[in-house]
Amino acid sequence: MKNTSKIGRNDPCPCGSGKKYKKCCMGKQAASPVDIKKRYRQKYDIALKEPKDIEGIRAAGHVVIQSLEIVEAELKAGMTTEEINTIVHDHAIKNGAVPAPFNYRGFPKSVCTSVNEVICHGIPGPYVLKDGDIINVDVTHIYNGYYADASKTFFIGTPGPDAEKIVKVAAESLKAAMEMLAPDHTIGDIGWAIQRYAESRKCSVVREFVGHGVGFEFHEPPQVPHYGKKGQGVVLVPGMVFTVEPMINLGKSRLFVEDDGWTAVTADGRLSAQFEQTFVITEDGFESLTPYSL
Ligand code: MF3
Ligand code: CO
Ligand code: CO
Repeated sequence: MKNTSKIGRNDPCPCGSGKKYKKCCMGKQAASPVDIKKRYRQKYDIALKEPKDIEGIRAAGHVVIQSLEIVEAELKAGMTTEEINTIVHDHAIKNGAVPAPFNYRGFPKSVCTSVNEVICHGIPGPYVLKDGDIINVDVTHIYNGYYADASKTFFIGTPGPDAEKIVKVAAESLKAAMEMLAPDHTIGDIGWAIQRYAESRKCSVVREFVGHGVGFEFHEPPQVPHYGKKGQGVVLVPGMVFTVEPMINLGKSRLFVEDDGWTAVTADGRLSAQFEQTFVITEDGFESLTPYSL
């Protein structure tokens, strides 16, 4: 059973009722897993995952990570973002997976490639990568019916100081978030940790795009903002599977979406970087289902 001894009397109850712990489950038997699963479905529309589901998402995550590794090995100046699309697409198909972005709400390609001031949802095409660029490659595959979603920002050739800084801050932001991933913490704790760290480095956090539940579908509840207040939002419980994917800007957080309806770019034209993994909350913390070192 879960050790709940560190919960304060006035903290939000870990059962997710929204009441204070002392007014709710304090002194009661812990709710059974079946009750929690029902409550999260009814109250938040969150589908908690069973061990067999987590295994399925982990297997999907394995193909996602392989795709990112292959891209990383092949990336170089002179390559087009279209070629990255081909690498990711072909790797998925060869391994019995389906790239989830293709045709998702009309998205025309199999992966997102977001270069320099592009925040996210960049569409692969004829752009030729050049020395000093940064590029986020965001891969989501469906494997055996399960979705896993992860992204990384890479350097092309030698980074300048701005590129070096924003990629470091984005990676550290995801690391800061990971420290919050445990039962009895909240969704708000995750955003709080990211915002605190990124702003301490004089960078800004994108508001318009958030992490999300994932596994049975591409985007499920809950939304996971990368800013927020400690203690707010849904209480994390074992079996929750969601992404954390902070988009961090070197300048201001404001963005606009280009006429293609997808490509989100910084309004001030400065660099943006992102790292994303799919996580499951476990009894004693978390596991990444798309693990790579940060
Ligand atoms: N992979 C993105 C995310 O992290 C979503 C991309 S939607 C697409 O949520 F249609 F652009 F692929
Ligand atoms: Co995502
Ligand atoms: Co993604």
